[in-house]
Formats: sequence, structure tokens, C-alpha cells
Amino acid sequence: MKIVSILGSGSADSLTRHGVLVVADQVRAAGLEFGLIDLREDYRSLHDVTEYAAPPEGSQTARLRAGLANASGVILATPVYHGTFSGLLKNALDHLTVEAFVQMPVGLLAAGGGARGAAVACDQMRTVVRALNGWSTPTHVSLTNDDVTEAGPTDDLRQRVADMVSELKDFAMARAHRA
Ligand SMILES: Cc1cc2nc3c(=O)[nH]c(=O)nc-3n(C[C@H](O)[C@H](O)[C@H](O)COP(=O)(O)O)c2cc1C
Repeated sequence: MKIVSILGSGSADSLTRHGVLVVADQVRAAGLEFGLIDLREDYRSLHDVTEYAAPPEGSQTARLRAGLANASGVILATPVYHGTFSGLLKNALDHLTVEAFVQMPVGLLAAGGGARGAAVACDQMRTVVRALNGWSTPTHVSLTNDDVTEAGPTDDLRQRVADMVSELKDFAMARAHRA
């Protein structure tokens, strides 16, 4: 069972990336496979809507959709920019069809200057997940610089991520049993 995280930060030295590293650890600790779609690396072009219905082989649209094809769950990870999630992440989600997340659990993680802004960004991602027919986990993870010290991510952050991953796994297992 594979969980794919979509990393929506354009920064090299990124707090969101630190959060995703914790996600990777906790997904693997839960006995699941982890995959990463790093939007900064390979997916920076604007969505080409002419490719939407029939994406050419090798196009950004085709590659993004293929990256999610075998996922049992997804974790969206974003920095908070001006009170919401990043344009880089929204651009990636615009490449997907409305069936992208059908019956799929979707975890949410946002990194902000403050925890309240990050929580709002997670709530806004819920709206988009619903439009893509996904099931967002009740628990989301908001993180700030206080969650990642020079010694690494705090135990508190690790536990919050583990709680979200646990919900994600439960949803994914329930779906697998129904199939
Ligand atoms: C253009 C811009 C807008 C931002 N707006 C907010 C905001 O509205 N609320 C907030 O809490 N932090 C805001 N921040 C701070 C970032 O969310 C914070 O620096 C976060 O760590 C960025 O994630 P990253 O390190 O993964 O890029 C903003 C940063 C930038 C560059």
C-alpha cells in the first residue's frame, strides 16, 4: 500500500520539506510505502488545459496523473502564502481530473509563520480535496519553525504526523477491504 505526498513548496530550504520528511518516516513506520512528487523539481510549468482531456505521453499532466495512479492515499503538503496554500500546489491539482481522489484518503500538512494560518490553509485544501472526490483526514498537521529545531523535528511534530498517518491508513485499509 503506497502513500504519495505532493510537496508544494518552491523553496530549497523548506520548512514544508522538513514536514514531508517526517511524513515519510511515519508512513514507513506504519508499514506503508512512501512516494514523493516534488513539485519544485519537475512540475513547475503552468497547467496546459489543452492537454486536460488527453494528455500526451510524457507531458507534465500525464506524469502527474501517473504519479498518483497506484496510490492508496495522498498527503498534500504546502507552505502558507498570503493566507492560503501555494499556487504551485494548486497548479498541480488543476492537472488532475475530478476522479483523481475518488474514495481516497488525503492527509493535509501546511507550514506557516503561524499555526493559525497553517490551519486555515489546511481547511482550504479540504475544499479542493472534496472537489476531487477525496476524503480528507479529520486530523491535519500545521507546523511552524518551532516544530523543527537544530536537533531535528520535535517529538510533538512526529506524534502529530503519526496521528494523521494512522487515520490515513485506517481509511485506506477500509477502502481496500470494500474493494
Ligand atoms: C509570499 C509569502 C507569503 C506568506 N504568507 C504567510 C501567511 O499568510 N501566513 C503565514 O503564517 N505565513 C506566511 N508566510 C510565511 C511562510 O508560510 C513560512 O515562511 C513557511 O515556512 C514557508 O514554507 P517553506 O519554508 O516550505 O517555503 C509567507 C511567506 C511568503 C514567502
